[in-house]
Amino acid sequence: MKHIDIIDIFEKKELIGTKVTVCGWVRTSRDSKNMAFIELNDGTSLKHLQIVIDKAELSDISDFMKLGTSLKVEGTLVNSAVAEDSVEINAENIVMLGECPPEYPLQKKRHTLEYLRTIPHLRVRTNTFNAVFRVRSVVSAAVHEFFQSRHFTYIHTPLITASDCEGAGEMFKVTTIGYSNEYKNEEDYNADDFFGRRAALSVSGQLEGEVAAMAMGKIYTFGPSFRAEKSNTPRHVAEFWHVEPEVAFAELPDIIEIAEDMIKYIIKAVLTKCPEEMKFFNAHFEKGLIEKLENVINNDFAIMTYTEAIELLKKSGKDFQYPVEWGCDLQTEHEKYISEEICKKPVFLTDYPKEIKSFYMKQNADGKTVAATDLLVPGVGEIIGCSEREADLDKLLEAMEIRGMTLEDYEHYIALRRFGSVPHSGFGLGLERIILYITGMQNIRDVILYPRTVGSIY
Ligand code: 4AD
Repeated sequence: MKHIDIIDIFEKKELIGTKVTVCGWVRTSRDSKNMAFIELNDGTSLKHLQIVIDKAELSDISDFMKLGTSLKVEGTLVNSAVAEDSVEINAENIVMLGECPPEYPLQKKRHTLEYLRTIPHLRVRTNTFNAVFRVRSVVSAAVHEFFQSRHFTYIHTPLITASDCEGAGEMFKVTTIGYSNEYKNEEDYNADDFFGRRAALSVSGQLEGEVAAMAMGKIYTFGPSFRAEKSNTPRHVAEFWHVEPEVAFAELPDIIEIAEDMIKYIIKAVLTKCPEEMKFFNAHFEKGLIEKLENVINNDFAIMTYTEAIELLKKSGKDFQYPVEWGCDLQTEHEKYISEEICKKPVFLTDYPKEIKSFYMKQNADGKTVAATDLLVPGVGEIIGCSEREADLDKLLEAMEIRGMTLEDYEHYIALRRFGSVPHSGFGLGLERIILYITGMQNIRDVILYPRTVGSIY
C-alpha cells in the first residue's frame, strides 16, 4: 500500500504543498458544522497528524470519526493553520481500512496502567506504550552498535540447556512428556524424555558465552532468559531480555569500565534519537528525568565495596526491615539506601562474600570474597550482575563441590580451565531494567509487550 510514514510527513519539509497519502488509526476526532478534524497516528511518531476535512467536499464521514478506526487518507500537505511549525493534511479522499465500534476500550479518558495491562493487545496504541516501545527499540539497537563497533562478536547461545548457570534452581523444565506414576524415579522419567536427560530453559547464556569468548576473545549475547522465580515484584518477569558480554583477558576493573561505557552509550543514543519520547516521560512519569540522565552521561559512576556498604548501612540509623550483618544478601531497601541516599547516582558494589554469590566467580586473595559487582541505580536497584570468572581449575572445582553441583553437567565449562585458561570477565544487563531507568516507568510489566509473571500469562 503506497503511503508515507507520518514521521516523514513531519520531518520532510519538501513535502509541504504536495499530494500525500498516509495511513493510521484515529486517535481523536472532532466535528463542527462545516469542518471535521481527525488526529491520525501510524506508530512511527509520538505526535499525531491532523487531518482536516471540509464537509462540503467529503460527506458521510461519521464512521471515519470513531476512535480506533484505521484509515487511508489522501490530500494536500499544508502548514498547520494553528500550530506553529507543524503540518496538516487537507483531505481529498478517505478510505476506511477497518471499522472500529464504540466498545473499543481506548476511548478518550486517561486509563490507568493497571487497566491497560489487562489489554496488552491494545495498550500499544496509547502514547505511553508507543513511546516505551520506540525507546526499547533504540536501546536494543544501541546495544548492538556499542559492541559491534568494539570488535565484539554477536553469539547466539542456546535457550534450551542441561545446566543451571546461576545454581538457584529456578528453571522452567523443558519436557514433551507428562510425569506418570509408571516411572520408578525422576531419572527414569528424564531418560524417557526428548533429550534423554533433564532439560530446562536457560537463565543466562553466560556458560556458553564463555565457551565462545575463549576463542573469539570478545563476544556478547542478546536474547531472552527465563526464570521461574516466584518474585512478584515490579522488577521481575519470568521471561526477560538479557545482554551478556564475555571478555577474554579482562579483569574486574576492565569489565566495569566496559559496563559503564555501555550504559552511557545507550543513554546517549536514546536522548539523541528519542527527544519527543523523553520529553513525554519527563513530563508524565519522572520530573527531572532528562537532567538525571544527562548527569549520568557526564559523571563517573561510584564504586564501593560490599564491606564499605555494610558499614554505611549499619551506621545509617535506619530501621531496615531486614537486619544488616556482613555476609547477608542485600535487600532492595539496602540497595535503595546506598544508591539513592548515599551515592545519588549509579554505583558498582564490589567484592561480595563468596557464600552469597555464584560458583563461577573468581575468588579473591582474602579467601572470603569474590571479584563480583552489581550495578545499582537509583529508583530501580540492580540492573547489572557482573564478575571476573574463576579461571583456576582447582578453585572452580572446589566451589562447585561445596555447592553440591553435578560436575558432569558442566563438563565443557570445566574443560575451558584445562585448555589455555585465561583471566576473563563478563556481565548480564537486564534490558527491561535499564528501560525502567531510562523512561522513569515504575513497573517492569509496562516495558515489555507481553509480561510473563508468576500466575499470569496473557
Ligand atoms: O545478576 P544475574 O542473575 O546474573 C547472571 O545471570 C549472570 N550469569 C550474568 C553474566 O555475568 N553473564 O542477572 C543479570 C541481570 C540482573 O542484573 C537483572 O538486570 C536481570 O539480569 N534480571 C532480571 N530482569 C528481569 N526479571 C528477572 N527475573 C531478572 N533476573 C535477572
